[in-house]
Amino acid sequence: MASSSRNSRGTTNCSFILILCFSFISSSQLLSQACHDVDRLALLGFKAQITSDSGNLRTWNASTDCCTWEHITCDTTTGRVVQLNIPGTPDMAAPDETSTFPLTGTLSPTLGNLSSLEFLKINNHYEGLVGPIPPELGNLQNLTVLYLWGNHLSGSIPSSLGNLVHLEALDLSYNQLSGVIPPSLSLLKNLTSIGLEENQFTGRGAEYDNLRAKCDRINADIQARHGFFPLCLKSSQACHDVDRAALLGFKAQITSDGGNLKTWNASTDCCTWEHIACDSTGRAVQLNILSIPEGAGPDEDTSFPMTGTLSPTLRNLSSIELLKINGHPVAEPIPTELGNLRKLTNLNLGFNKLNGSIPSSFGNLINLEYLDLSYNHLSGVIPSALQSLTKLIDFEITTNQITGEIPPEIGNLRSLNYLSLGSNKLNGSIPSSLGNLVNLKSLYLFDNQLSSVVPSSLHSLKNLTTIVIS
Ligand SMILES: *[C@@H]1O[C@H](CO)[C@@H](O)[C@H](O)[C@H]1NC(C)=O
Ligand SMILES: *[C@@H]1O[C@H](CO)[C@@H](O)[C@H](O)[C@H]1NC(C)=O
Ligand SMILES: *[C@@H]1O[C@H](CO)[C@@H](O)[C@H](O)[C@H]1NC(C)=O
Ligand SMILES: *[C@@H]1O[C@H](CO)[C@@H](O)[C@H](O)[C@H]1NC(C)=O
Ligand SMILES: *[C@@H]1O[C@H](CO)[C@@H](O)[C@H](O)[C@H]1NC(C)=O
Ligand SMILES: *[C@@H]1O[C@H](CO)[C@@H](O)[C@H](O)[C@H]1NC(C)=O
Ligand SMILES: *[C@@H]1O[C@H](CO)[C@@H](O)[C@H](O)[C@H]1NC(C)=O
Ligand SMILES: *[C@@H]1O[C@H](CO)[C@@H](O)[C@H](O)[C@H]1NC(C)=O
Ligand SMILES: *[C@@H]1O[C@H](CO)[C@@H](O)[C@H](O)[C@H]1NC(C)=O
Repeated sequence: MASSSRNSRGTTNCSFILILCFSFISSSQLLSQACHDVDRLALLGFKAQITSDSGNLRTWNASTDCCTWEHITCDTTTGRVVQLNIPGTPDMAAPDETSTFPLTGTLSPTLGNLSSLEFLKINNHYEGLVGPIPPELGNLQNLTVLYLWGNHLSGSIPSSLGNLVHLEALDLSYNQLSGVIPPSLSLLKNLTSIGLEENQFTGRGAEYDNLRAKCDRINADIQARHGFFPLCLKSSQACHDVDRAALLGFKAQITSDGGNLKTWNASTDCCTWEHIACDSTGRAVQLNILSIPEGAGPDEDTSFPMTGTLSPTLRNLSSIELLKINGHPVAEPIPTELGNLRKLTNLNLGFNKLNGSIPSSFGNLINLEYLDLSYNHLSGVIPSALQSLTKLIDFEITTNQITGEIPPEIGNLRSLNYLSLGSNKLNGSIPSSLGNLVNLKSLYLFDNQLSSVVPSSLHSLKNLTTIVIS
């Protein structure tokens, strides 16, 4: 029996003498296992949905061992397919006229049967595969790399991809994907490389920030320049003591956290806490607790899951770049100390009950690109110190009780795309300096006590498509 199984490559004999056969295979490393039937069928199912393959699948012949096919790698001891790698476009290559599409067709759900798959890459050149990403890909529990870059895939990202706990790199950029980015992706602790740009995702939601949170800062800079998420490095350092103390100081002033801070345990690394992201040196760069989705209107059924005050210890988060806290009902002024956080690019304290005035210290936040203080109880005037915020792209203070005139210095904020001052108590005239805001796309001044005269300077703003004045 043993000698007959030695001469046989098939599995029929093995099923009779399973134990002997198994010990034979493991003692003979020279023989590779042939392709597993389930995998071969899954790959043929994939091929069946490909309408044109530019020769990439020419060796994929039902009557040959799939482990010998081009672009396939098997585990030699199990015969299970571990890689499907259709090279397509070189990673990060720019599109050009000579673009070819290695594969056209749709992605077969049978790919979900390649249960040992660790690496799946089918990049194209801005066309190619159409249709949805099959939710069955969420079955590929050992997957570490998923690249479907530069196709024409549509529909939403299946939330089942949140099951891919070993996933380290995901690139779905340059497709036609829509819907929201599934929050389940932010549960993937080892996911450090994410490409989702150039799709049609809706919202600029917290999900996206949480994903970004896992990227190393150096690479995030590259991302900022090129508009995509290239390979990101893991944060290797544990949380910095100063940041941990500052965050625990914040937690100490929160009387009820709605579950948001349940992972904030003094004896664990603060870089692993929920809503916190660190850079590679262990400094906290993001604190992101948005109880109310960004973009929600005033009619939303607003709940306030966190109560307590905003601790001045936040001033010690000296590397923080993104600070977003909303849904916080306690009426109090904005801590002026936040004006120390000079690295901030993104500050959202909208939908709280903050009162008092906008601190002039915010004029120090010269790296700010997004400032949202909407839906609070802020009063006082718009500080002219804000004129230093020349990188500001988006400034929103709608629905507060801000008084006085719009400071003409707002005309210095040349990067502004979006200016929303609606539903306040602003008076006087609309400053003609707004005509300097060459990048302005949207201007909201409604529900104030402003003069209705629109300065002629605004007519020269080519990008201004939305003006809501009354
Ligand atoms: C598959 O291989 C067999 C045997 O080598 C050959 O006869 C057959 O034509 C091949 N089929 C395709 C579709 O290439
Ligand atoms: C492979 O996947 C398809 C579709 O997901 C499924 O219907 C089929 O039963 C699977 N086949 C095998 C052999 O696992
Ligand atoms: C997944 O990977 C682990 C570790 O390499 C391995 O033990 C396991 O068998 C793999 N699972 C499958 C379904 O191949
Ligand atoms: C995540 O990465 C770490 C370090 O490489 C590794 O020890 C761990 O097993 C990985 N976790 C998963 C779920 O793959
Ligand atoms: C913090 O973590 C330690 C060790 O894991 C645990 O003993 C303790 O109960 C935790 N404390 C809180 C408040 O969760
Ligand atoms: C801020 O950090 C400094 C050390 O850098 C420390 O002395 C101070 O107590 C901290 N302040 C707060 C409010 O945590
Ligand atoms: C903010 O509101 C609280 C509670 O109503 C009040 O005690 C406090 O004086 C207000 N502060 C300012 C600056 O308006
Ligand atoms: C605007 O309102 C303030 C009071 O908030 C008042 O002092 C000022 O005179 C008003 N300005 C104009 C131009 O109406
Ligand atoms: C206006 O928008 C276009 C396209 O978004 C952009 O390239 C340009 O820089 C913007 N600014 C001006 C002043 O045209």
